[in-house]
Amino acid sequence: MFTALESYPPDPILRLLADFRADPNPHKVDLGVGVYKDETGHTPIMGAVKTAEARVFAGEETKSYIGPAGVPEFNAAIKDLIFGARHPVLADARVATVLTPGGCGALRVGAELLKRAAPETTIWVSDPTWANHIPLLGNAGLRIREYPYYDREHSVLRFDAMLSALAESGSGDVVLLHGCCHNPCGADLNLDQWRAVAELAEKRGFLPFVDLAYQGLGDGLDVDAQGLRLLAERLPEMLVASSCSKNFGLYRERVGSLSVVGQSAQRAEITVSHVNNIVRGIYSMPPSHGGAIVAEILNDPELDRQWRDELDVMRDRINGLRKLLNNKLRARGVDRDFSFVERERGMFSFLGLSAEQVTRLIDEYSIYMVNSSRINVAGISQANADYVVEALATVMAG
Ligand code: LMR
Repeated sequence: MFTALESYPPDPILRLLADFRADPNPHKVDLGVGVYKDETGHTPIMGAVKTAEARVFAGEETKSYIGPAGVPEFNAAIKDLIFGARHPVLADARVATVLTPGGCGALRVGAELLKRAAPETTIWVSDPTWANHIPLLGNAGLRIREYPYYDREHSVLRFDAMLSALAESGSGDVVLLHGCCHNPCGADLNLDQWRAVAELAEKRGFLPFVDLAYQGLGDGLDVDAQGLRLLAERLPEMLVASSCSKNFGLYRERVGSLSVVGQSAQRAEITVSHVNNIVRGIYSMPPSHGGAIVAEILNDPELDRQWRDELDVMRDRINGLRKLLNNKLRARGVDRDFSFVERERGMFSFLGLSAEQVTRLIDEYSIYMVNSSRINVAGISQANADYVVEALATVMAG
């Protein structure tokens, strides 16, 4: 059966993790996979998560099954966090949310739902987008098209080109949008641009599918969700995939959610009955542990406060590193304007280097990044910034 299979190369982002771990260079720097790191390069467990997890263990009385929708307390609380507790779609009960194994689980289940509702669905993704969007959506059988999003040469959004491309979308097409902290480019839509997207969606009839993987790590929990909240106010239907990997630091626990906004409460309920059936046919039901932790935090005012404070620290650190990198590159006299790094948000920015320059950074300096020159800004620290800047300046000089 399996003898015809050729060996499949590892995922390029995940491979960086293994390569970095195996590198003995004491000066190595990991700017690869998107995980938050503190000043020592460690990815810590948040204090609020530690406390909540201890309570979950202490209070747990059974390991019996939960359903395909997961932990109800999580579903209710995460919905408020995503949409804002007073959002009209919540007041009208037009949102149904289920716990999923990470944001990836949400994207895949959402894609399967689209395939079931309309087998010929085309989904538009940004150019560039997170590499794993393509298999997550495409393997469900959706047709994929790209819309222009980011000009790598000039490090700016291509918003007009994006709107022109989406003006070609057919009614019933789906458009995947990054809620905030665009992965991989870090350039986000402003509120006026979200408004223009909403208008176009109304006009062309496309359904937005928002991937919200970094809520709280750009400009704050509410600002980072403002675009999707605006879409939800204006459009009859949409999908939202969210992740608790980054903002709760729960990466390996696989916690995320899929929210369906329906035309009415009844439509949302009917649609989510299909979500539950799809889940049952893939993984039956999600693991409960991470969802229980998040529910414990969001439903306890003190833990919730602590978590928000910790998240603020993480966000401020990343935005501070953006500034630091730009300042140091300028001070080093590099012949290129890196102020975009300071303006962009979230974990990622493209440095605009060639694949050869990235290879040199890895081979000669043990500075790891994706070969598109996407860096995880959180991997920079006060301690390694000069080393990184010197290496960048050297490879850019040729
Ligand atoms: C990334 O883009 O580095 C993260 O989203 C982690 C991953 O799974 O690729």
